[in-house]
Amino acid sequence: MPRTPQSSTEPVIEIRDIEIEDLAPIFHLGERLFTADRWTTLHRTWDEYVPVELFHTDRETCLVATVNGAFAGFALGNLIEKRRSAWTYGYLAWLGVEPEHARHGLGSRMVQQLERRFIDAGARMVLVDTAADNEVARAFFRRHGFGRDEAHVYLAKNLTNEPAYRRRHASPRKD
Ligand SMILES: CC(C)(COP(=O)(O)OP(=O)(O)OC[C@H]1O[C@@H](n2cnc3c(N)ncnc32)[C@H](O)[C@@H]1OP(=O)(O)O)[C@@H](O)C(=O)NCCC(=O)NCCS
Repeated sequence: MPRTPQSSTEPVIEIRDIEIEDLAPIFHLGERLFTADRWTTLHRTWDEYVPVELFHTDRETCLVATVNGAFAGFALGNLIEKRRSAWTYGYLAWLGVEPEHARHGLGSRMVQQLERRFIDAGARMVLVDTAADNEVARAFFRRHGFGRDEAHVYLAKNLTNEPAYRRRHASPRKD
């Protein structure tokens, strides 16, 4: 069947390897998308070290999406090998698409490409995690065949009422 010629106004989407120049745009998009509004998720806080460290350690599993050559999204992943386990896992740690390009398939294309890279690296399963109330992400991941949701409960304790904390922070006596 003859291919329909693309209209000149149709945006050109590309999924490519991460490059050092992508680190600043990734960080700034992540700052807008992953706001730390709960203390219990501080262990997964977005900061500049996230893209820098993954770029340093797991560049092969970090991808960028562009629209007409301009940065438009990222997928940052890594491989997990457990001691005493024959299995290798792929972990999609962070996925983000510029809101103005949402719902145009960029996220899907990055996830599909990342899954192929995980498979090539020997992974048998890919893991993701997201906040329980992130309905968009949950719909997105379900659409891509992710299931077996496991709830994880985060607890917090205020240490400022502990005697040891009070002793440590007691104001020095004035006399
Ligand atoms: C989740 C996210 C990456 C999706 O990227 P995207 O490029 O917009 O996704 P796609 O266009 O490939 O969407 C694929 C499918 O996911 C689902 N989906 C995506 N956005 C959705 C939305 N706002 N509401 C409901 N379903 C949605 C749909 O099934 C969609 O298919 P359809 O458009 O044919 O109905 C993007 O919304 C995002 O950056 N969110 C903020 C960051 C985040 O939560 N990241 C995930 C956890 S790290």
